[in-house]
Amino acid sequence: MSKSILITGGAGFIGSHVVQLFVEKYLDYKIINLDCLTYAGNLENLKEVENASNYIFEKVNLLDVDELRRVFEVHQVTDVIHLAAESHVDRSISDPLAFVNTNVIGTVNLLNVAKTYWRDLQDHLFYHVSTDEVYGSLDHGGFFTETTPYDPQSPYSASKAASDHFVRAYSNTYGMKTVITNCSNNYGPNQFPEKLIPLCIHNIKNNRPLPVYGKGENIRDWLFVVDHARAIDMVFHKGKVGETYNVGGFNEWKNIDIVKLLCQKMDEKLGRETGSSEKLITYVTDRAGHDMRYAIDASKIQNELGWEPSLQFEEGISKTIDWYLDNEDWLNSVTSGDYQKYYQERYK
Ligand code: NAD
Ligand code: DAU
Repeated sequence: MSKSILITGGAGFIGSHVVQLFVEKYLDYKIINLDCLTYAGNLENLKEVENASNYIFEKVNLLDVDELRRVFEVHQVTDVIHLAAESHVDRSISDPLAFVNTNVIGTVNLLNVAKTYWRDLQDHLFYHVSTDEVYGSLDHGGFFTETTPYDPQSPYSASKAASDHFVRAYSNTYGMKTVITNCSNNYGPNQFPEKLIPLCIHNIKNNRPLPVYGKGENIRDWLFVVDHARAIDMVFHKGKVGETYNVGGFNEWKNIDIVKLLCQKMDEKLGRETGSSEKLITYVTDRAGHDMRYAIDASKIQNELGWEPSLQFEEGISKTIDWYLDNEDWLNSVTSGDYQKYYQERYK
């Protein structure tokens, strides 16, 4: 095996697409998926690769340093792609400490173990996957670039900003080879239905209210998850060490317009009368400290590495809805049990 890559958070939404891409494309790499399987981690997301000879799963928590050491030792980890995190802004508002633990302390644990295990830091890469939310909130003009100052506004984005700073500090202080990408909102198969798009698909299917925060005018820049995985592949192999790359969809939407698009597409797919799902739209209390707009200028990764999104939004949304409709068992299993409790408390 030419590389032994530790991918953290590989059972989650984005991680599962990254693991699948790497396992299928790089048969000479050993891919170790390290994940502690929180509510957001699901091995069902990895059905297509679970028996591959170059793939192995390790159920380990980033807070368990002894276990992290064991994984590095046993698998002789050469590189890290770090995705594991608490990722949902609403949960960070009700339980910030969980985000400090996994996103900040968990990341520092991983950096420490890598630093002590890797003898010559020049032979190894630590790739940290982050978010555009670290840059704060935009009004109606301008874009986030790689030089936009950090200005995180939620406990989630503050924890991700802290983890980004630690990764840069390990590069500057110890000479660790690092790279960071900051990506905009992802959508697609395997996303846990606490996030806007899968939550609305699930609720439209079940004729339940579609909770739109505030006036629905907040804007997000959406990217199909497989295009994010392709970007990670490119940056891992061709990105300049020590650099940051912003990844985005060049695709800004107001929340209310996305919800209406989902209603329209699902009316068509489910054979419902036009306009019937829109009646489910319910304006609810706004998210505390709700960031107004995110928009990424992705020209650096486009110009330097030749990456660009491969899928138009309407095609990606259509594929995403089809996936959720075709994978009813997946949706039913993740929305039973704890999800019901979360949903009741959040949307009561
Ligand atoms: P997710 O919540 O779907 O998955 C996170 C995964 O991490 C889960 O499998 C979970 O079990 C695992 N995990 C959580 N805590 C852990 C711990 N202490 N130890 C080991 N594993 C743990 O998240 P996602 O949406 O796939 O996001 C992945 C990464 O990408 C995150 O770092 C997130 O900040 C970043 N990101 C997400 C988006 C997005 O739109 N979803 C956009 C930009 C960046
Ligand atoms: O920008 C990247 C970030 O995108 C990632 O770093 C985060 O991990 C990811 O969760 C996502 O954060 P958002 O807060 O933008 O995603 P979410 O799907 O939770 O919300 C999208 C928008 O929809 C946001 O403006 C809030 C709004 N919303 C969300 C939910 C869950 C609603 O109006 N109603 C809802 O019920």
